[in-house]
Amino acid sequence: MKIINKITLGLVTATLLFVGCSQNATPAKKEVVKATISEDSLGLRKASLFNEAEIKPNGTEYSQNYAGSGHKIKRAFQDAPPMIPHDVTGLIPITINDNQCLGCHMPEVASSMGATPIPPSHFMDFRPVTTIAADGELEKNGHVIKNTSSEELKNVSIKSTHGKLYGGRYNCTQCHAPQATEPLAVKNNFQADYTDKDGANKSSWQGTKLMEGINTYESSK
Ligand code: HEC
Ligand code: HEC
Repeated sequence: MKIINKITLGLVTATLLFVGCSQNATPAKKEVVKATISEDSLGLRKASLFNEAEIKPNGTEYSQNYAGSGHKIKRAFQDAPPMIPHDVTGLIPITINDNQCLGCHMPEVASSMGATPIPPSHFMDFRPVTTIAADGELEKNGHVIKNTSSEELKNVSIKSTHGKLYGGRYNCTQCHAPQATEPLAVKNNFQADYTDKDGANKSSWQGTKLMEGINTYESSK
């Protein structure tokens, strides 16, 4: 604190004390606190919050790399759904009769297309068979379930779909999305701590890993 400010503060305090002690004194005037942080510096946009005229959002540009150009995006974390690194013009929307993603990504064709094959987890059914019993009780895999969010044996099942893509994975763009190309206004300092040495480039969620942390395994029936 600058010396002059200290002196001023000292004087103000003394005056307040003096005023405070004397009886029937008029209330001390409130000190006006000067703003030390400008409005313009508060937000990420570094401009006045009261003026929209100069504010233009970035346009959203997606990658124009054609599928097969070999461009890939690092996974955000271990076993994160990879972002789509190629142009999706003409490939979306996915409809019940038209899913072009499959034409390049199904495991049997992927290597000849140079595409990453759809992983084993997409050929699994993780949903227990859910029914309402005659008495109105909710049943999962034939067992009455009280707490549906528990990870108990009765609540979880992992069944192979025998090489058929699981229906819940059909709509690829529900989980996989293209990534806009503009640089971020704010730097992202997140550093992924991959558990697998190749975690930035491929999924490791298969085989026994599928059951890690879940206390059940219903083998393919
Ligand atoms: C013409 C073939 C083709 C089609 C159609 C296609 N892809 Fe791809 N895809 C590729 C290739 C090849 C790659 C590898 C990167 C590259 O070369 O562009 C790839 C990469 C990917 C990746 C990244 C994989 C990784 O390991 O990082 C995802 C996710 C993906 N595609 C999703 C999709 C989705 C979703 C669709 C449908 C909307 C789709 N692709 C349609 C060929 C295709
Ligand atoms: C419900 C969300 C979801 C849907 C729908 C989905 N995926 Fe995935 N996908 C994931 C997740 C999560 C991963 C990473 C973990 C794993 O392997 O399951 C992944 C991984 C992948 C990978 C990388 C595999 C590897 O070995 O690195 C490819 C390729 C892929 N998916 C393609 C597709 C395609 C094509 C579709 C549509 C037919 C699709 N996915 C539908 C969530 C989804």
